[in-house]
Amino acid sequence: MTIQLRTPVPGPKSKELMGRRRRYVARGPFHATPVFLAKAKGAVIEDVDGNRFIDFASGIGVANVGHSPDAVVRAAAEQAARCLHAGFNVTPYEGYVELSRRLCEATPGAHAKKALLVNCGAEAVENAVKIARCHTKRQAVVCFDHGFHGRTYMAMTLTSKAKPYKLGFGPFCPEVYRAPFPYAYRWPSGGDGVRVSLECFERFKEIVEAQIGPANVAAVIIEPVLGEGGFVPAPKMFLASLQDYCRAQRIVLIADEIQTGFGRTGSLFACGQMDVEPDLMTLAKGLGGGMPLAAVVGRSEIMDAPIEGGVGGTYGGNPVACAAALAVLDLFEDGSLLARSRALGERLERRLAGWRKRFDSVGDVRGLGPMRALEFVTDRGNKNPDREAAGKLARYCYEHGVIVLTAGTYGNVVRILVPLCASPEELEEGLDVMEAGLKELEPRRTKEKKAGSRAPAKGERP
Ligand SMILES: Cc1ncc(COP(=O)(O)O)c(C=O)c1O
Repeated sequence: MTIQLRTPVPGPKSKELMGRRRRYVARGPFHATPVFLAKAKGAVIEDVDGNRFIDFASGIGVANVGHSPDAVVRAAAEQAARCLHAGFNVTPYEGYVELSRRLCEATPGAHAKKALLVNCGAEAVENAVKIARCHTKRQAVVCFDHGFHGRTYMAMTLTSKAKPYKLGFGPFCPEVYRAPFPYAYRWPSGGDGVRVSLECFERFKEIVEAQIGPANVAAVIIEPVLGEGGFVPAPKMFLASLQDYCRAQRIVLIADEIQTGFGRTGSLFACGQMDVEPDLMTLAKGLGGGMPLAAVVGRSEIMDAPIEGGVGGTYGGNPVACAAALAVLDLFEDGSLLARSRALGERLERRLAGWRKRFDSVGDVRGLGPMRALEFVTDRGNKNPDREAAGKLARYCYEHGVIVLTAGTYGNVVRILVPLCASPEELEEGLDVMEAGLKELEPRRTKEKKAGSRAPAKGERP
């Protein structure tokens, strides 16, 4: 048994720290769980009260190689002892160049590539848009419904969900247009991946051609699998049409692989298994193995558009973060971690499919590799989102020793982002807790249904 709860959660030390957090930390940053971290290793998190949790969140998809793997910690510590920071724009260092080389080689496409290193996902998105505009000398950017790209101004503008990400922060960036995402479960005319892809691509084309004009579009940015939007993979066919269209119109296709990258979907990058070779890719999260690091990687001629000094920053490609990222890439080198990722994905797919059959509240299960999620509905017929059920399951899990996150535009998705190093036993133990939580949700549903048939709502005919 990995899970060990010594106190009811949150424990006394966590509660005391939460009091101080409320006093001194701005309200804005959100906590999925109110326990304070003491340490984390592999797929296990220990809080300040000595409670041990199985982590199905990975620090929001960061700890793909597990929390604090020895090789990454060693590489970071050795670099920290040599130099914490120099500034690549003051005195360059080899780690930055070597990491760029490896990213150029590891990302899909045999074309000549270059990389730019920055600090976080949002900054990578900002820079990808800047580079695409500078290269094309065009302004418009097309993004998609349910997309999430970060919290800085351009990234926030590209993000679809208003609450909490955009509330009170307007005005937003100009020249951003939004097209529908091929979200099969919620596609109005229903249908399979082919029909959804065809109809969705037609809508995309209509928006570009009728509202913007292709010659004004600098970039199209898409997550190959929606992350915050609820783990919806874009059909291969849709991505292929998008790629062909962008190539024909000289539009820069940006794949945001910030959440899908570094083994999260069973391959190093989702685009690799979806047969897409984007012009630019944004990478972060799993890249630094926990160190703040992000990258834009793509076609050399596009990456070289900004003049010297046009992009960069004080901390971008920090040497300690680069050393950690090189160690992360080494961990993927022999393919065994990716094999494990695929095995996790297969196990999750089978178990979640079983839940879809057994539990009425689970409207849809989906994902790619071990990036898997459940979408809750109040009724499978009308598919009304059940945000409360998702919240209740996440809470049940946390109170029983498993940390999971919710997601989705309607907050009705529970997603699994288990570290890829999790043992089969840790995975099953965590899934057993989720299943027990799902069982707890069902009697509530049955009771509510019965109560509904006995006592009609006010003003409603019996
Ligand atoms: C797809 C995607 N893009 C961009 C971001 C923003 O990354 P960051 O939080 O590092 O700025 C995220 C973060 O969740 C993400 O999932």
